[in-house]
Formats: sequence, C-alpha cells, structure tokens
Amino acid sequence: MKFDNEIRKRRTFAIISHPDAGKTTLTEKFLLFGGAIQTAGAVKSNKIKKHATSDFMEIERQRGISVATSVMSFEYNGVLINLLDTPGHKDFAEDTYRTLTAVDSVVLVVDVVKGVEEQTRKLMEVCRMRDTPVIVFINKMDRDGKYPFDLMDEIEKELNIHLHPLSWPINMGKDFKGVYNLYNKSLLLFHPNQKATDEESVKIDNLSDLALDRLVGDKDAAQLREDAELFEGVYGDFNNEAYLKGETAPVFFGSAINNFGVKELLDTFIKISPVPQSREATTRSVDAMEDKFSGFIFKIHANLDPKHRDRIAFLRVCSGKFERNKYYHHVRLDKDVRFSNPYSFLARDKDVIEEAYSGDVVGLFDTGNFKIGDTLTEGENFYFTGVPSFSPEIFKEVVNKDPMKTKQLEKGLNQLTDEGVAQLFTQHNGNRKIIGCVGDLQFEVIQYRLLHEYSASVQFNSLPFYKACWLTAANPAKLDEFTRFKTANTVIDKDGHVVYLAQSEWFLNTEIANNPDIEFHFSSEIHK
Ligand code: G4P
Repeated sequence: MKFDNEIRKRRTFAIISHPDAGKTTLTEKFLLFGGAIQTAGAVKSNKIKKHATSDFMEIERQRGISVATSVMSFEYNGVLINLLDTPGHKDFAEDTYRTLTAVDSVVLVVDVVKGVEEQTRKLMEVCRMRDTPVIVFINKMDRDGKYPFDLMDEIEKELNIHLHPLSWPINMGKDFKGVYNLYNKSLLLFHPNQKATDEESVKIDNLSDLALDRLVGDKDAAQLREDAELFEGVYGDFNNEAYLKGETAPVFFGSAINNFGVKELLDTFIKISPVPQSREATTRSVDAMEDKFSGFIFKIHANLDPKHRDRIAFLRVCSGKFERNKYYHHVRLDKDVRFSNPYSFLARDKDVIEEAYSGDVVGLFDTGNFKIGDTLTEGENFYFTGVPSFSPEIFKEVVNKDPMKTKQLEKGLNQLTDEGVAQLFTQHNGNRKIIGCVGDLQFEVIQYRLLHEYSASVQFNSLPFYKACWLTAANPAKLDEFTRFKTANTVIDKDGHVVYLAQSEWFLNTEIANNPDIEFHFSSEIHK
C-alpha cells in the first residue's frame, strides 16, 4: 500500500439537485473556498443556460465549454477534493447517472421553497442503488419556504432515506437569523448582504447558555431550544457509520448565494465524507489502496469540431497510481495502450498530468477505442461492475435516407452510442435500428452529428414505447420462447442482451404477471 497517504487525502464527490435549486452557486462557493477560482462567475459550469433550452447547438457548445469544469479539483485544509460536475438539463440525465458511478459521495441540494422535485427523486434513486453516502444541503433559507420539520418529513418519505440534522435554522426568509451547528455546537449568525469573510460563528456549548437569548432574542432562543429538544428525541446521536453506508443523510441549512452555511458544510464534509472506496469488479473486489493501477471510463465527451473526431474519455482511477506514458491493459480490446497527454481538468497547475491516484479523474484523448464501462488495469482481466444503462424514455426508429452511406451510418451510430448519450437497439436480425434517449434533444444532436461527422443522413420515426426492460431467465428456452412470440417488442442492445420495449405501464405489468419465469430489469449493468 505504497500510495496510502496520497489516496487518503482525496475526496471525490458530486453536487446534485433539481435545476435551479442552487447547485452551480454552491459549486462556485466551494471553489472560492478552495482557491480554485478568485471571483464569483469565473466557472462556466455545466449549467445550461435557460434561454438555450430549444437550441441544441448552443447547448452542445456550452457542454463543450464545460468539459474543463467537468471535474474541479481543489485543495482545502490539506484535503484534495475532486468535485465532479453533473449537467442539470434533464435531457442529459444519463450523463449525470453515470457520473454518480464515479464518485464516493454526493451533496444533494434542495430548495427550501420547492422541496423534493422530480430530478431530486431520480438522482436519489441512483444514489440509493449504490448506497452512496449523501449529505443534504437545504438552500435558499433567505426565502420563506417550507417549515423545517415538514420539509425533513417530506424528504425522508419521498426519498426513502433517514435524515439527521447537523445544523438547525433559526427562522427563514426575512426573519432568518442563522443556524445552530449541532455538530460542533456553534451558532452561525446570518447578516443579509454580507459575504463569508464576515461570517460570525459563536461557540455555544450548551443551548441553555443565555448568550443565545442575547444574540437571537428571547423568542427565537426559546423556539430553538424547543426544536432542539424535539429533534434530539426524534433523531438521536449522529452515526457516522450509518452515513458512510448510505443509510442516514446529515442535513445542513444555508444560503448558497449569501455564502452562508457553505463553509461549515465544507468543513464537515472533509471530516466525515468517505475516502476513495473499494469497488466491485467481475472477478473480485478492488481495494482503492492497492498498489496496482486500475480504473474505468464513466463518461465520453465528443469534440464538437467536426474536423477532430477525437473525444475525451473520463477515467476514474479506482486503485493505485496512474502514470503518463505507461502501458496499461485495455481489458475489452485485450491490448496495451498508453497515454502521452492525459488531461487534467480545472484548477490543476498544468494541462497535462504526470500521475494521478485512486479517486482522481483523468481525461484521455480517444479516437474511438473507448466505450462507457471500459476498464484499464496493469494486466489483470476484470471489469468494474455497477456502471448501468437506464431505460430511455423516448424511442425512435432510424431511417437511412442515403443508402450509399450505410457503412458510415453504422459506424456513426456505433460511435455516438458508445458515448452513452443514447442507446442503440436492433430488431429483426439487425435490419431495424432503434435509438432510445432520455430527452428529445438528443435526437436532434444525433441527426446533426451523423450528418456533419459521418456524412450520413437520417430521419427518425417515433415509436410508441415508453420503457425498456432488460430480460433474463434462469432457463434460456423461456427467454427464446418469449422473444419469438413478442418480435414486435423485443430488441437486442449493443451488448447482445435481450430487451423488452413496453408500450405502456399496463402492458409491462401484464407481461411481468404473465411471465413469472422471466425477470424484468429496469437498468442494465454494462458488466456484471
Ligand atoms: P442550479 O445550478 O441548481 O440550476 O442553480 P443555480 O445555482 O444556478 O441557482 C438558481 C437560482 O437560484 C439563481 O438565480 C441563483 O442566484 C439562485 N440562488 C442560489 N442560491 C440561492 C440562495 O441561497 N438564495 C436565493 N434567494 N437564491 C439563490 P437566477 O436568478 O435564476 O440566476 P442568476 O441570474 O442569479 O444567475
């Protein structure tokens, strides 16, 4: 375990939220604390500007810019933090889900006014599948929002997770006075329009301390004491182990835009969040502290310039040390590859890095050798498991408008779907190709890119499916029989798995009920 010290310094996480809850603002405040940026507004985050939602080229352009901020690394109090950005736009949700496979923990931002929203629910489902440790940050306390106890209830019920407040607000909106930090027993007073440097933290070891009355007034001091009694009864002591297992989520209250409660969130985060974790692979569990390097590709980003078809593959280092120019084993292709220009993301000293350790993310320039889920090792043959594909929500048939370009179309479809933004299914022995995406925008992007990068012209015809389910059966004959009877609804994915496309929930439930020998899965793990 030569690299223990390096690896233990690292924390790799993502901030997730429903759009507009404050993810970008919080990210920026973290970076300011970490010294990675000097002024607010310096980060072109993955946030896709609202006015661009109907203009896919603009969205792609912004996504292109945001490659540099896909991974933001900074040091804070001796801890090396890798913050992985996730696109807020729901049409790129797959990208976000994959990114969650590359982190060791997440911070979930919830808007105190809006509470749990659609994307919050979906993102948390993915976290729960992996038992990812979650810290909740209730944002916008400077606004009148939901009553904290009600909001906590709502989050617990809707997201199916136990919460444990580590700070508690004193009022909200224009009466917001601050938060009491239950973890280090201090009172943080809120002064609107003053930034973090003016933050005032008062140590109050005991809530019966009369200093509290002096600082926040008798009425609010009494309310805080009452609240504290109530939640101490409800939530008990904070259990760090339960947080690390993904069973309990600590909660903080604050206001990102006012930089309030952000520093205490970050301070607690570096104390309690997990170091790079061991990961399951097809043959064994891989310990993050192992000397030998291993890693997997969780995201691929295309170069928007049609003259350069190279892409950036995002590698999460899972064990050991990655070195520039060293040969590594590409397990799927069974060949040795090396990288002369491994790319480092925002806030590292240089663009090209010499080495990276378990927990880090490295950008690898790729000309088509990688697809999502590919594993690199020092020679051993295994794949990291748990890199799933989720069911698309919109399905369209690909119609080739130029039969002279069939080969280019095949290649284009294969390469573009390797990037993971869309899924390719085939039917009738490969004669019919169906693309499934999470958002309509993707079809426009694919059509445009096929034409400009591969000279292939296509049209898409909508299909009446709403969900894809991956099928397995203990008895292969049962699966064969099912696919024979359901030719219109069964397709094959790129990895050769049988997939059922359901027209509606009713059809799906009927098939599930009628076929007890077949298992219907709502996500496919690329490697099991
Ligand atoms: P997102 O990345 O999750 O989509 O959210 P983002 O940080 O962009 O924040 C969404 C909006 O909420 C922004 O306002 C931002 O200024 C505001 N906001 C963030 N934190 C707080 C907070 O603590 N209190 C209040 N009151 N507002 C907050 P916007 O007007 O949509 O954008 P902008 O013009 O300010 O950039």
